[in-house]
Amino acid sequence: MATDRIMVGIIGAGTIARAIIEDLQASGAADVCYVLTSRSGRERPSRLANVPWLTNPDEAVARPVDLVIEAAVPEIFARLAPAVLEHSDFCGFSCTALADPMLEAAVRDATAKSGRRLYVPHGAILGLDGLVDGRDVLERVVITTTKSGKSFGLDPGASGVVFEGSTRDACRRFPRNVNVHAAIALAGLGFDKTRSRIVAVPNEPRMRHTIEVSGPGLEWTIQVASQSLGGVTGSYTPASAAGSVRRIIDRSGVVIA
Ligand SMILES: NC(=O)c1ccc[n+]([C@@H]2O[C@H](COP(=O)([O-])OP(=O)(O)OC[C@H]3O[C@@H](n4cnc5c(N)ncnc54)[C@H](O)[C@@H]3O)[C@@H](O)[C@H]2O)c1
Repeated sequence: MATDRIMVGIIGAGTIARAIIEDLQASGAADVCYVLTSRSGRERPSRLANVPWLTNPDEAVARPVDLVIEAAVPEIFARLAPAVLEHSDFCGFSCTALADPMLEAAVRDATAKSGRRLYVPHGAILGLDGLVDGRDVLERVVITTTKSGKSFGLDPGASGVVFEGSTRDACRRFPRNVNVHAAIALAGLGFDKTRSRIVAVPNEPRMRHTIEVSGPGLEWTIQVASQSLGGVTGSYTPASAAGSVRRIIDRSGVVIA
């Protein structure tokens, strides 16, 4: 790059993306070079008047930046990650996209060829670093998410276990709701060995994630609950997202490939 300032491109302009942009602007840790969304300028805050606002994904890929952060939808993660990784690092919040084995292979191939990095953010949970560190000694990783059936796109009256199986199948079935399951799988035992459970509780305003990890002579459980901010994102996630991006800029993010 011509400058030693870190140049960042952002995909999405919703709850998570805005928290990241505000944090980067407040800290001055990096320059936001573009925001790519599907909705022209409608979500553009006035303080970003000078940042190019793009709606054409090809135009975004063609812009040289150090790091691209996706906080939009799994479809755009899938469409852009392999091309972006040819020249930039990539961090994606919609990581259920990587449950597609062809996409995961394309992404790993791109990082191997370019030397760029794929980062997975903590998002709604904690402890991905421990899974990466323990990957070779872990035997069992189970993540259970509990929230209202309505927020899973199911009958609001749904109650009890509505899914139990591999994380790969959970990602296929609930692509917008189990990004944390995908992150756990990528950090630890992969999409087929990681087990996912989805539990519906009528009228539950919070989302609760319980991560149970065990191996020979070791075990831990992490439980994180947060109130929904209205969509698929909980009250802890914007702050967590800004923190994950700060660590990536400091070269200490969770590297998957
Ligand atoms: N990894 C995690 O722990 C975690 C936690 C919460 C949310 N998420 C995921 O992060 C993503 C963003 O969440 P959010 O709450 O900020 O969502 P949001 O609905 O507030 O914002 C989504 C943004 O994506 C943009 N968008 C939609 N389709 C697009 C496309 N094709 N190209 C470019 N932009 C597009 C929209 O314009 C909007 O700005 C979602 O996929 C969500 O499921 C991940």
